[in-house]
Amino acid sequence: MSGRATALAHSNVALVKYWGKREGVDPSLNLPETGSISITLGELQTRTTVVFDGGLDGDKVSGIRDKDHERVSQFLGLVRERAGIETFAEVRTENDFPTGAGLASSASGFAALAMAASHAADLELSKTELSQLARRGSGSAARSIFGGFAEQKRGQAPDGSDCHAVQLQPWDHWPLSVAVAIVDEGEKPVSSTAGMLWTAETSPFYAAWLADHTQDLETVRSAINERDFDKLAHVTEHNCLKMHATMLTAIPTLLYWNATTLAVMRRIWQLRELGTKVCFSIDAGPQVKAICDASSLDIVAATLESVPGVKRVIRSGLGTGASLIDTEVKA
Ligand code: DP6
Repeated sequence: MSGRATALAHSNVALVKYWGKREGVDPSLNLPETGSISITLGELQTRTTVVFDGGLDGDKVSGIRDKDHERVSQFLGLVRERAGIETFAEVRTENDFPTGAGLASSASGFAALAMAASHAADLELSKTELSQLARRGSGSAARSIFGGFAEQKRGQAPDGSDCHAVQLQPWDHWPLSVAVAIVDEGEKPVSSTAGMLWTAETSPFYAAWLADHTQDLETVRSAINERDFDKLAHVTEHNCLKMHATMLTAIPTLLYWNATTLAVMRRIWQLRELGTKVCFSIDAGPQVKAICDASSLDIVAATLESVPGVKRVIRSGLGTGASLIDTEVKA
C-alpha cells in the first residue's frame, strides 16, 4: 500500500501538570500517574507529513533532532501494527517555535504525527483513539488532539483503554491568551521523560505532589466552567510550583530555571498586584508562560519584553485541536 497525509497540531500548556508515570504497568503504554488539564495554544504549531512508501527500506525522518528519530520510528511501528502493514514511512515535520526548550514540541509533534500517520495508514480512529495513540508518543500529546481546554484522564485500566484526553470546553468558551517569554533558546539538558522518572524515584516531595492532585483538577475544572480567573490563577501557579518543588528536591537536583525565569515570575506577580488578570506556568525548561485574559495580552507581552534577559515573547490565543490538511491512500 501507499498513503500520505499531512496534519497540523498545536502545542499546549498544562494548568494542572502531568509529572510522573504509573508504576506496575507496561511502560510502553506511557500511562500517567495523574490526570492533567491544559489549554491548547493556537500560535505554536507543528505540521507533519507522513508518506508510507513501499520503496523504502527503513523509516526516513526529517525536521527533528537526530536523537528523536528512533522515538518517531517506534511510534510508526505502533501505527503499522494497528493497520496490519509493514511499509516504512517518510516523515517530514516542521515546528514554528524553538524545540527542546520546554515549549512542549513533543505535544504538538506527536499529536500531528498520530493524526497524519493514522490517516496515511488508512486507519479510521475516533478522537479518543487518536488521543490514546498520541499518548504512546508523549503523554502531553494526548491533550493536543483537542482544542481549547482539554483534560487528560488518568483512567484505571492497566491496558490504558480509559486513559485519554477529553475536551472540557472549546477555545471560544473563554478567550484566554498566553505570552511565552523565551529566556533561553538552547536545548534543555534533561528531557521531561527522564526528569519525571528521576523525580519520582528520588524526591521526598513526590508523594505530596500526588496527594492533592485530584483536588487541583477539580478546582481548575470549575474555574474554567465559571470563567473564574482568580481561582484559575491560584491553582495554576501553585500546581506548577509544587511540580518544580519535586524537581528541586530530586537527587541530584533538577533546576530548569535561570535568573531571567525568576525575574519574569516576579514581574508577573507585580502585574497581578496592580490588577492585571495574569498568572504563570513553567514546564520542564526555563521559559515562562504568562496566562492572561485576552484583553491584557498586549500589556503582559510588552511588560515581559522589557525584562532584561528576555529574548523574545511569543503571543498566542487558544487554538483548535489537531486537524488533517490532506490525505491520499492507494491500495
Ligand atoms: C512538564 O509529555 O513531554 O510539560 O510522556 O515522557 O513524553 P512524556 O512527557 P511529556 O511531559 C510533559 C511534562 C510537562 C507537564 C505537562 O505538560 O503536563
